Amino acid sequence: MQNYIHYLNDEWVKTKDLKISVFDISVLRGYGVFDFLRTYNKKPFELEKHLDRFFNSVSGLDLSIKKTRDEVRRLIMEGIRRNKGELNIRIVLTGGVSADNFLPSDNNNFIIMFTHPHTYPNKFYSQGIAIKTVQYARLFPQIKSLDYVFGVYVLKNAKKQGYVEVLYLDNDRVLEPTTSNIFFVKDNELFTPATDILPGVTKYVVINIARQLGIKVNKVEVKASEMGQYDEIFLTATNKEIMPVIKINKTIVGNGEVGPVTRKLTTRFREITHGL
Ligand SMILES: Cc1ncc(COP(=O)(O)O)c(C=O)c1O
Repeated sequence: MQNYIHYLNDEWVKTKDLKISVFDISVLRGYGVFDFLRTYNKKPFELEKHLDRFFNSVSGLDLSIKKTRDEVRRLIMEGIRRNKGELNIRIVLTGGVSADNFLPSDNNNFIIMFTHPHTYPNKFYSQGIAIKTVQYARLFPQIKSLDYVFGVYVLKNAKKQGYVEVLYLDNDRVLEPTTSNIFFVKDNELFTPATDILPGVTKYVVINIARQLGIKVNKVEVKASEMGQYDEIFLTATNKEIMPVIKINKTIVGNGEVGPVTRKLTTRFREITHGL
């Protein structure tokens, strides 16, 4: 366990002291919210977008929070100074310890965790990854709740079969993978699901990059039965950045190699993040 300094309620604590009650309904019922961002060059990437989404999740699950947006921002900046190197930052608000062990309370835990960024093997980016599909729709798609029960379950099994992500489908409607958003490329245009998904911050950044590069972005309903017709597919997420997909279930995407649009967007994304 590497030693980082984290924020827990009103104190800065070491990893070994980052503890909450097991009576918290985040533990008992999975009730709580979080957001997840990272630094590049010790600067939080798209902090305001993550704060927007975090506070939207807080009100979406009707949780009470004692910290203001300005305080959360200030604490994140302080945590970046207190910890060495590049960081993953996880802001968590739990449902709290409550008298009936069921309903949320004001006695909740506010945590900002700082850890080392997770990296994926280079070949995921140079050769692309395989993903599989499964029928599932997240309960509160716009909210980043702590409940990833289904995602954990399906990804655990999919990994044993060599898949890196699992894509949720609602009948023939493409939604999003367990912890990422998805983009499709056809004739140099992007197509990406618009509704019933988490508004990904990386997705937002990639859409802006695409528009700056003159690539048209279509926020539309994508049909699972038509996925085989696309030239390229890629995923976006804070920890994956832009990750090319070359296989969905048993079907090869395009010519089975990372495509030119994915590469162009990745190059620009890296220029932006590394130039911060
Ligand atoms: C369900 C879901 N969709 C999409 C994303 C991607 O969002 P972001 O780009 O903000 O990391 C995540 C991130 O964890 C997620 O959990």
